[in-house]
Amino acid sequence: MANVRTQFVCNACGGATVKWQGQCPHCSAWNTLIETRAQSASQHRRASATDANNAVAIAQVTATEPQRLLTRIEEFDRVLGGGLVDGGVVLIGGDPGIGKSTLLLQALAQVAMGESVLYVSGEESAAQVALRAQRLGIESTQLPLLKVLAEIELETIVATIEAERPRVVVVDSIQTLFTPTLTSAPGSVSQVRECAAGLTRLAKRSGVSVVLVGHVTKEGSLAGPRVLEHMVDTVLYFEGDTHSAYRLVRAFKNRFGAIHELGVFAMTNRGLRGVHNPSALFLSQQGDGKGGLVPGSCVMVTQEGSRPMLVEIQALVDAAHVPNPRRLCVGVDPQRLAMLLAVLSRHAGIATYDQDVFVNAVGGVRIDEPASDLAVTLAVLSSIRNRPLTRGLAVFGEVGLAGEIRPAARGLERLREAAKIGFSTALIPKANAPRKPIEGLEVIAVESLAEAIHQLRLR
Ligand code: TYD
Ligand code: MG
Repeated sequence: MANVRTQFVCNACGGATVKWQGQCPHCSAWNTLIETRAQSASQHRRASATDANNAVAIAQVTATEPQRLLTRIEEFDRVLGGGLVDGGVVLIGGDPGIGKSTLLLQALAQVAMGESVLYVSGEESAAQVALRAQRLGIESTQLPLLKVLAEIELETIVATIEAERPRVVVVDSIQTLFTPTLTSAPGSVSQVRECAAGLTRLAKRSGVSVVLVGHVTKEGSLAGPRVLEHMVDTVLYFEGDTHSAYRLVRAFKNRFGAIHELGVFAMTNRGLRGVHNPSALFLSQQGDGKGGLVPGSCVMVTQEGSRPMLVEIQALVDAAHVPNPRRLCVGVDPQRLAMLLAVLSRHAGIATYDQDVFVNAVGGVRIDEPASDLAVTLAVLSSIRNRPLTRGLAVFGEVGLAGEIRPAARGLERLREAAKIGFSTALIPKANAPRKPIEGLEVIAVESLAEAIHQLRLR
């Protein structure tokens, strides 16, 4: 009889502990530890010297470029790094209801025009999937190669894939799958991992391209997609505000392409449509949409993957009535905000210790790059002064701890995009100043925060 040991596995990060605790010692999440059975090490075989395999010189390995398969949904192909890859495993994460199933069904329908594909649904019945296809305007009668399987048992799914040999398989979602070889419930870390590992092995063995859907959950009842990130080739996340029509698909890891690519979609009543020119989407509708008309608003030029985009940053600074003033960020890193407030205090003499500070990136977009620092700082300052920034102003640049303004990558592209959208002034780091003037754009290049404040007359 195998020696069965229990351990407690965190549903958020997958870390294991021997004893139950209220808080996961690895990721500090609360109430996420679930009891699971671990196989004891004695069951594992020890390799002997005779088992050794020959390592090969890398030059002797024949490596060919992987075959690509376009989904013909341009925005999606771009985030994938040029389409799906045979034998590749893609994980698409996102909040429930954000559009994962919709996008993948649309993509499969496109691929099914020439290749056989399989949509494995663990959440919806085949009839529900067919109904969705109808709603999306997919002529399923003309697509005999688009097949649906409503099933949650891993072994049956693997056997079906091996029998049907489709080119692409979508599994919606990985959290509903289960394998009877494990005793834990579907959605637990061990089930999710084991099922994903089984499908990954199948993909590598048979060359089928696998797309896994993973729901991001806030509480620990389901294991999140994070526990799978290391296993798969590509990780994409859906972002965006479910209340707005726009959805962003961002690549976080891609063994076959660039990361931080961004696909922009609009949710319509007939599914997701790609937005080909998204650069002006994330400006608020205030005034002329070019920023600088209301206090506390500053437009930044961000570079998302291969495309520059204009995003409005809004700030509200208000007297705090509690001992610990609040710092709340939506779409911007709160740690960086704290740092920028310290820089403001030290290098511009503007204290916020008794003020609540709220910062928001318009349209539910999330900005990771440090080049947003200058926009955040200026939006905060504009709110403190209750004075709008110059009309038609776009900015970018990183703010250093010494109050210096550091350059951002691909400055020229950002400036060109701002000019194209109709911005007339750009406040940028000195090192990003273009050699030749850009038509219609006045460029103010600064070296320090103090200089930027002086130039914008925010003293
Ligand atoms: P869905 O793809 O089911 O989300 P997920 O699989 O990520 O949970 O998307 C569901 C949402 O999208 C739902 O709230 C309704 C909306 N929707 C539309 O607005 N138009 C459509 O054509 C479809 C199919 C869905
Ligand atoms: Mg779904």
